Amino acid sequence: MSESLFLPDEGATRMLGAALAAGIAPGRVIFLRGDLGTGKTTLVQGLLRALGFAGRVKSPTYSLVELYKLSSLNLYHFDFYRFEHRSEWVDSGFREYFSQDSACVVEWPERVAGLLAPPELELRLDFSGAGRQAQLTPHTAAGRDWLGAASKRWSQA
Ligand SMILES: Nc1ncnc2c1ncn2[C@@H]1O[C@H](COP(=O)(O)OP(=O)(O)OP(=O)(O)O)[C@@H](O)[C@H]1O
Ligand SMILES: [Mg+2]
Repeated sequence: MSESLFLPDEGATRMLGAALAAGIAPGRVIFLRGDLGTGKTTLVQGLLRALGFAGRVKSPTYSLVELYKLSSLNLYHFDFYRFEHRSEWVDSGFREYFSQDSACVVEWPERVAGLLAPPELELRLDFSGAGRQAQLTPHTAAGRDWLGAASKRWSQA
């Protein structure tokens, strides 16, 4: 059920982010996997732009999370790369952000493996020549709908 796409350049990564934007809704979670520099934050930039956010999208490398208050909802962008101590999870309060009130986009979910429920959708990016290979895997019925709508937008773009 997963879908594979080739992203030849940064613009394609942003376009995939934009294609995924329509599926962003309160309570939705997407995991972004892939090595350092594969384009996860770039994809989030395309996604936020498509949701109408005009400002700068910075990588939450040190803050671990950035909040975007969009007209339609609150979106939390996590980067757990530097989240090394699982014992801090409860104190961090991050768990409360994963609620029916907001959408969450998560880079480096490996770092919090087992602490979060499976997301609706998971995206994996891998280096492929000068570009990237993207693999999208849904984990719920909502995730399958989200992926279906995104691939349709992608093929029409
Ligand atoms: N499809 C693509 N082809 C080639 N280069 C790309 C592509 N998508 C993104 N890039 C480039 O990859 C670089 C790294 O991107 P980005 O910072 O988004 O990676 P990241 O996965 O978020 O890394 P990190 O794990 O460190 O947060 C950027 O310079 C971006 O322009
Ligand atoms: Mg990043």
